[in-house]
Amino acid sequence: MYRSHTCGELSDKQVGEEVTLSGWVHRRRDHGGVIFIDLRDRYGVTQITSDPIEFKDAHNVMDGVRSEFVLKITGTVRLRPGDNANPNMATGMIEVLVTEAEILNAAITPPFEIDQDKEVSEELRLKYRYLDLRRDRLKGNILLRSKVIKYIRDHLEKADFVEVETPILIKGTPEGSREYLVPSRLYDGEFYVLPQSPQQLKQLLMVAGFDKYFQIARCFRDEDQRGDRQPEFTQLDMEMSFIHEEDIMSINESLLLELTKKFAPQKKIMAEPFPVLTYHEAMNIYGADSPDLRFDLPLSDITDIASECDFSLFRGAVEDGGIVKALRVEGGAKFTRREIDEFTEIAKIYGAKGLAYVFVEEEGLRGPIVKFFKEEELNEIVERTEAVVGDIIFFSADKFSIACESLGKVRIAVAKSMDLIDENLFAFCWVKDFPMFEVDHVTGEIGAVHHPFTSPKDPEEFANNPETALAKAYDVVLNGTEVGGGSIRIHSPEVQTKVFEILKISPEDVERRFGHIIKAFTFGAPPHGGIAWGLDRLVMIYADEPNIREVIAFPKDQKAKDLMLGAPSPMPDAQIEELHIRVVKKKTD
Ligand code: AMO
Ligand code: AMP
Repeated sequence: MYRSHTCGELSDKQVGEEVTLSGWVHRRRDHGGVIFIDLRDRYGVTQITSDPIEFKDAHNVMDGVRSEFVLKITGTVRLRPGDNANPNMATGMIEVLVTEAEILNAAITPPFEIDQDKEVSEELRLKYRYLDLRRDRLKGNILLRSKVIKYIRDHLEKADFVEVETPILIKGTPEGSREYLVPSRLYDGEFYVLPQSPQQLKQLLMVAGFDKYFQIARCFRDEDQRGDRQPEFTQLDMEMSFIHEEDIMSINESLLLELTKKFAPQKKIMAEPFPVLTYHEAMNIYGADSPDLRFDLPLSDITDIASECDFSLFRGAVEDGGIVKALRVEGGAKFTRREIDEFTEIAKIYGAKGLAYVFVEEEGLRGPIVKFFKEEELNEIVERTEAVVGDIIFFSADKFSIACESLGKVRIAVAKSMDLIDENLFAFCWVKDFPMFEVDHVTGEIGAVHHPFTSPKDPEEFANNPETALAKAYDVVLNGTEVGGGSIRIHSPEVQTKVFEILKISPEDVERRFGHIIKAFTFGAPPHGGIAWGLDRLVMIYADEPNIREVIAFPKDQKAKDLMLGAPSPMPDAQIEELHIRVVKKKTD
């Protein structure tokens, strides 16, 4: 027997009992010939103590171990003497006097200390992930993740959802990212595609009649890495039949509230029920389709004032069909030149041509652009933005999406720099009524905002002006992070075909890529819709972590590499040949 108890379980109830424990040497101290070891396993830490006279053999074994050795001991539970008791620790009232000890495995010195929460380089942490996972921070996150998933499973099963595993080797399903391909050995020149999501398969399950589906689904997207993105990540994926948008939102809202109260009880939920914003409102007021509502700082629109003014940059933008947005920052007159330059750089990353500003002073407005405005116009701007002395007002003039988004990013940077974000708040909201389509302002290509299976909001609007029609799509946002997104789907073959037409996918390509789903819709597809949560993102926020890597057991690094396994890696020529592919090395000059 390796153990009668875990290292987290003994208390004064077991005093006098003989127990066997196995675990890792967390800390070892030699106090004048008596060895104290904190023995650790997943459940906790128990102090074990040697007696160099009574139990000399066991003492010698304990004397010879070092950090992270794996040790099995047998001994007697006893109360810790008076001042050694530690009521703050689960096993802090007792210790085990060791009568027998056996080293199950030795350990070389680990590349970083396991028993301390010291800063360690990301590279080392990822290379020795199995050691990092021994540390409290990651261990806690992985246990939290497991509990969150179990809670979701239990909740959904009670609500009659069926859990179905959908395949990983499929034919691509578009979610707007590049896909991972798997070459086929049996069919030369042919490939499987890893799913960006189970989207089409869950819809086909609705056609099959399963009516309430969920899956803890692995998704694969070959996209640039960020703190809240991984090339493979996990969704809580759901789909339901005979359901409206509001029902899906309300089912998800109550599950999110239950989960949050259970797993992040220390956080204050800002508003219940969750506020609902349209995409247009979210962009217009907060400059983001996933607005952070923990702080206010709303944007104002001064397009009408700008259209009359003498500042050519503003008037020109309006004449080109654009808008002018303003962001008033209370107390912002104290920003230094350097800070303003930094905000300007942020605005530029998001497409702005610049970031104009004025200071609000006793004598009136001050700044390089003031001279282009008439007195009444300046007064109107102050009134519109509700600015007072001591404030700064920033401006962005451009087409709607750029003006809003660039100033929205400045809004967030300002909130961070002025410490306006209450980290104890959880601000959820829904954003809905997204446009069906958007034109990429770099490539000029039209694409689906959510995905091409999303139903138009209003069939008539879609029939008359398909390109500008709104969709029955909704995102759920927490503290400015999109934690989930979904939509009511198209279930008519005609509407689906029309969407592909608008997306300029040729009929041959539609048949090749999506023939199966359009065909399925001709066999009696129920009205249906669903949503998928970014489970890693949600757990990341629950765990107060800054990066989703911290809640994934074996993540990739920022360059999409697995540093522990060394993936991706070159393959033997024979294996590549078997797949009927040839590797063309990138030219390096
Ligand atoms: P969407 O593409 O919006 O929708 O994805 C749903 C949620 O998944 C999370 N997410 C990610 N998390 C980590 N790393 C990534 N690379 C990543 N990409 C997305 C986000 C996002 O809100 N099939 C649809 C859902 C549906 O319509 O039902 C879909 O995949 O939190
Ligand atoms: P310039 O005349 O180019 O020196 O610009 C005057 C001010 O307007 C500077 O503060 C610029 O950052 C800002 N600016 C330039 N283009 C825009 C724009 N499209 N929207 C808002 N501010 C701008």
